[in-house]
This record gives sequence, C-alpha cells and structure tokens, in this order.
Amino acid sequence: MNGFDNQAYLDRINKAAEYIREAAGPDYAPTICVVSGSGLADISSFCEVVKEIRAADIPGYPVSTAPGHDGKLIIARSAGKDILVISGRVHYYEGYDMRDVTMYVRVASVLGVKSMIVTNAAGGISEMFKPIQYMAITDHISFLAEPALRGPNLDGFGVRFPDQSEIYDKGYINDLLDIASANGINLTKGLYVYTKGPQYETPAEIRMLKLCGADAVGMSTVPEVIVASHCGIKVAAISVITNFAAGITNAKLSEEEVLTNAGKAAREVGFLIGKLIERI
Ligand code: HPA
Repeated sequence: MNGFDNQAYLDRINKAAEYIREAAGPDYAPTICVVSGSGLADISSFCEVVKEIRAADIPGYPVSTAPGHDGKLIIARSAGKDILVISGRVHYYEGYDMRDVTMYVRVASVLGVKSMIVTNAAGGISEMFKPIQYMAITDHISFLAEPALRGPNLDGFGVRFPDQSEIYDKGYINDLLDIASANGINLTKGLYVYTKGPQYETPAEIRMLKLCGADAVGMSTVPEVIVASHCGIKVAAISVITNFAAGITNAKLSEEEVLTNAGKAAREVGFLIGKLIERI
C-alpha cells in the first residue's frame, strides 16, 4: 500500500540488528542508546569505545549525508553498561523517508534498548536562550512535518494510535536539571519545535512558533522520539542552543555557526550524558 511494505522493512531492521550483534559479540546487550546530533560526534568522550561499525557496512541501513554526521554506530560501555551510540543519524531533508529516518530506533529496540538519550543542535527562540546553552526537551510540536508513524502500523512495536502525553521521561528531565545545577551547566527545560528543513526558518515563521510557545527549533529528534515512544523506549533529549533563531537578532544563520558551537558544547553534553547514564 502506497509503497509501504512492512515485511521488507522488518527484514531490514532484523538484518541490521543481526549484523550489529555479530560485530559486537554475544555478550553485548545494550539497554541504552545515545544519539549524537550535528557537530556533537565527540560525545563519545563519555564512554569507552569497544568497536565502531560503519553505517555503510550494515546491509540495508541508511547512511547520513549531512555535514557533522559521521555515519557510525559505536559499541560502547559507560558506567558498567552496554551502550549503543548512533553517531550520524539521517534526516528527512536528506531525502530519506520517515521509515529510514527512524530505523535505528527500531533496530535499537530489537537489540533490547529501553532508554534513549538524544541530542541535537537547535536555534533558540525563547528570550532565556543565547548560544551556547542547553535545553532539556519537555515536549514538542511535530505536526509541521511528515508523520513519523505513517503507513500500516508495525504491530510488533506498538499500537496504531500511541499516546503522546509524556514522551520525554519526567524522571530523566529532573535528573538532567539536577546534574546540570550541581555542575554549573546552564540547562533549562523547554519546548522544541521540529521543522523539516533543510532551509532555516524565516523570521515570520519564528514569530509564529514563538506564539505557539516554542523555546527552540531544529530539524531532527522528533520523528525518532515518536518512534521510540511507540516502541516503549523511555526518552531524554538535550538541545544545544547553537544560535539565535532567525530574526531574534539581525545576524544571518549559518551551518558554520551551528557546527562550531555544537563542537564547543560536545564535552559538556558528553558529561551530562555520562552522569545521566550512571543514574539509569
Ligand atoms: N533552525 C533549525 N534547525 C537548527 C537551527 C535553527 O535555527 N540551529 C540548529 N539547527
């Protein structure tokens, strides 16, 4: 139906999970998946790298073409736990469909992942933000974009009409606030709006989003966390405010600013993630 083939998609998911299991060895049992956003590849500093797998070597697995995304899956350990790090997610704006964009979440679920920590670079809309600061996402607005769960439901993962009342786990949000305040890291809670990209927003779009209560805007994360919640995976998400959103100042937006500031934030984000993993 409309190009959706559940069986072919499930085969790709299971084959990718099998490839990772074989590469990682029989003892690898990840319960936590960490996703590094644009320019944040360095977050693997918080964990011990056991093995790196090139996304391109995994059969049927989508490979990122976005700058600042290096297309690797990292078999890692942190705080005595097995971790799966996704370094280089794929985005809708690259031309991938939502099933490809969210495929790693379902692969992680098949591998046994129960918690996901997602990071992204975002533009700050709220007056409380200036680059470089951090936001623990408490909720999102997703309907400006293609629905992540469109197509015949994948019943093995979750229900057709999943509840979205608490996608971002309150316990993880409180943990992040606690860790940040104990360590002098400027992290606040906020609402994230997902836009399809790849163009940045116009000042008029940002004014509209602000009226809707948005604190930050970005081009990733939301499809994946919708799928994570569909699979019953608990989610924490951290935005790095890398720039003022369009029209907040007179400055033009650039990918260079986003990647440079994300790179500067990578160590602190890694620290937050490492401390959160200790508590999970
Ligand atoms: N808008 C959309 N995506 C982004 C931004 C932004 O201002 N900054 C980083 N990613």
